[in-house]
Amino acid sequence: MPELKLLLKHKARTLDEYRRIGGYAAFQKALAMDRQAVIDEIKKSGLRGRGGAGFPTWIKWNGIPKQKTKRHYVLCNADEGEPGTFKDKELMESTPHQVIEGMMIAGWATQADVGYIYIRAEFMDCARAVKSAIDEAYAEGLLGKNIQGTGWDFDLHVHLGAGSYECGEESAMMSSLMGERGMPRLKAPHAPLPTIAGLWDSPTLINNVETFACAPHIIQNGGDWYAAMGASTKNSRGTKIFSVSGHVNKPGNYEIEFGTKLSDLLELAGGIKGGALKACIPGGSSVPILNAESVAKAVIGYEEIGEVGSMVGSGGCIFFNEHTCIVALMWRTAKFYMRESCGKCTPCREGTDWLFQIHDRIIKGGGRPEDINLLKQICAQIDGRSFCGLGDAAAWPIVAALKVFPHEYEYFIQHGKSIVDTPQSKLMFPYAEPVPV
Ligand SMILES: Cc1cc2nc3c(=O)[nH]c(=O)nc-3n(C[C@H](O)[C@H](O)[C@H](O)COP(=O)(O)O)c2cc1C
Ligand code: SF4
Repeated sequence: MPELKLLLKHKARTLDEYRRIGGYAAFQKALAMDRQAVIDEIKKSGLRGRGGAGFPTWIKWNGIPKQKTKRHYVLCNADEGEPGTFKDKELMESTPHQVIEGMMIAGWATQADVGYIYIRAEFMDCARAVKSAIDEAYAEGLLGKNIQGTGWDFDLHVHLGAGSYECGEESAMMSSLMGERGMPRLKAPHAPLPTIAGLWDSPTLINNVETFACAPHIIQNGGDWYAAMGASTKNSRGTKIFSVSGHVNKPGNYEIEFGTKLSDLLELAGGIKGGALKACIPGGSSVPILNAESVAKAVIGYEEIGEVGSMVGSGGCIFFNEHTCIVALMWRTAKFYMRESCGKCTPCREGTDWLFQIHDRIIKGGGRPEDINLLKQICAQIDGRSFCGLGDAAAWPIVAALKVFPHEYEYFIQHGKSIVDTPQSKLMFPYAEPVPV
């Protein structure tokens, strides 16, 4: 199956290189279009947010007030904190203008005055690449005052992240950008949507890097052209980049059309390495784990992956071979969420700690028969009861692991050691690593 490339087709770091592959033609086209016509094209494309939730992009764009009474903002979520995901990094490093052009099209469509790209601070190369591309765009009059004689002013800034997974959550990101602690805010229906009151209480459009990168292609080629890709699925259109890692021969970013089989994605990544396929986390560490039988059945689409019990998420696709101990894997996952919980709400702050502590005693040989039910109860107390999505993200992988691989937990608790007993599996047990609490 050939790999389909749209967003990852070219590497064009400079403006000259980007122009040579047709860069900024879509922006020029958008400037000549009515703002609503731009949004309608995004609607026709069927584009859904690539940051994890798959929310229809056009609804957000259309939600920015048409009657302007305040500044409008465009915010690009480039925090990319989901373990297993590294696609936004590649997009920003290899073709930064593609992301900038997408933000400019969104800015035009929503009458924005200012845009921010919130890049995680560890991604210094990305930040440099994007900053240099922004400077080039200013020098060419693509950004700044009275762009291309339209009377529209638009400024774009890079903002470095505050070093926490939670800062990728959109309301925490806005707090962080405004100089506050990166903690989430109350959300709709209890508070206005960011499109009404976001940054500094002004209308704010927030999308992921990959979502913005799709916009130039949609405007240039038309929404119908984009929507033709993935037409075999229920409601997933276009392409999606998957960051494939784990036990595969060729880890990397692969852009596929929705409707592709998950097993074909594995083949693109060179197939499984070091043993037979055991499991896959298809959309980043927070989505439910699948066993090999489900991988064989799974078709990539928001609804289609749901049918086998998981999610597209952010596209961080991790494959595991037969030497993987699922309990150790969940121990590592629980540790991540415990550390990243911001502490604002009790179910997540306390629950993530307990999820880790119980996994820790199981893998150290001290598991108790009641631990399985205890884990299930704690997950049920976190899921849907936390202040933001991080709590759910911490519970879902464990709920799925207990459902799909219950025998691995049962064996570990009964025998005080993993059911997987091979030299390779030993590497999964970093018992000695100190755990700061
Ligand atoms: C804990 C948490 C972390 C998140 N991290 C990211 C992230 O790193 N990048 C991202 O684009 N979205 C992330 N999201 C989703 C954002 O809140 C938001 O839905 C997304 O940026 C919207 O863009 P989209 O509609 O283009 O997907 C995160 C959500 C949660 C709950
Ligand atoms: S679920 Fe609660 S404690 Fe966890 S990150 Fe969100 S607000 Fe913070």
